[in-house]
Amino acid sequence: MEEEFISCSSYHIKNHQVSSVCSSNIALIKYWGKYKNQIPANPSISYTLDRCRTQTNIEFTKGAPFSVKVFLSGKREVSFSEKIEKYFRGVSRYLPWVEEGRYVITTENTFPHSSGIASSASGFGAIAKCLVQLDTSFGQPQEPAFETKKASFLARLGSGSACRSLYKGLVVWGKTEGLAGSSDLYAVVYPPDKVHPVFKNFNDWVLLIHKGQKMVSSTLGHSLMENHPYAEIRFTQACKNFSDLQKILLEGDIKEFIRLVEHEALTLHALMMMSRPAFILMKRGTLEVIERIWSFRKETGLDLFFTLDAGANVHLLFPEGPETEKIKSFIVSELLAYSQDHTLIKDEINF
Ligand code: DP6
Repeated sequence: MEEEFISCSSYHIKNHQVSSVCSSNIALIKYWGKYKNQIPANPSISYTLDRCRTQTNIEFTKGAPFSVKVFLSGKREVSFSEKIEKYFRGVSRYLPWVEEGRYVITTENTFPHSSGIASSASGFGAIAKCLVQLDTSFGQPQEPAFETKKASFLARLGSGSACRSLYKGLVVWGKTEGLAGSSDLYAVVYPPDKVHPVFKNFNDWVLLIHKGQKMVSSTLGHSLMENHPYAEIRFTQACKNFSDLQKILLEGDIKEFIRLVEHEALTLHALMMMSRPAFILMKRGTLEVIERIWSFRKETGLDLFFTLDAGANVHLLFPEGPETEKIKSFIVSELLAYSQDHTLIKDEINF
């Protein structure tokens, strides 16, 4: 029900400044393919990261002609400004005051700029949080739980995966029978009491294989799913993977978790390769690292595995436990060499 997110039409705008912080997330079951109005074609689930974050400040000046200026790490970003301006116009149905002033947005990421780490999730998450703060201070105060839900709803309209960044732990976006309360409009927390402790204390070390701009944006990639020969099969498979994952999470079956998560990552990239036109976002280093992970696992039996985003970087996943040190030293001594400028972001998930 979209209506619950439409703010009341009597509001009192004022000059106001707000700020917020939002984390990035990494999907285990991928969102790849969507319908009109940012409705996902299948449910997805992600881990919210701890250290990869965006911090955003918005200065709103009431009554000035509507405009948006964005500064990223102190540098004026014209293309972001245009993107955010368009986004603000798009959410005016829900925030009736949004075009009644001028915005100066300053934003910083804790991870290196243009590193290929998805900053749109944490970026739109932080902006959506700021918008909800403005909305609250211009209208009626809202319950904190509803504020987060509304921020997730608004973040989704900026970038689908961003809606999952509003919550900690394991987060689900997309209506699925397997999870009561799940929705296509916003994300919800996956119940921690249905998750085995082995999945609650996890490492995600991101190996930066290629720092530059991606050849094909996620938004374009999603649109190529529209005429994709495998689209329907993929959407059905993702639903099946979601229900399989629920059992895995409950039972603590790490081996099956590894199989499923890696299969999801490779499926995402296989879908890209089978799009028309085809595209490949993995680089040579991505494949080399995958091979090294597989042989390490075969030789040692240790639980090091990977997932991929829509890019070349490899997320190295491993649970925190007695064997963690061996995995960490393998990464540093053997895998770091494949990264660009030896860049490794050591993130983690705790809930
Ligand atoms: C591969 O959320 O970036 O990271 O909704 O068009 O902004 P838009 O796409 P985006 O797509 C993310 C795709 C993904 C998988 C995922 O995070 O689920």
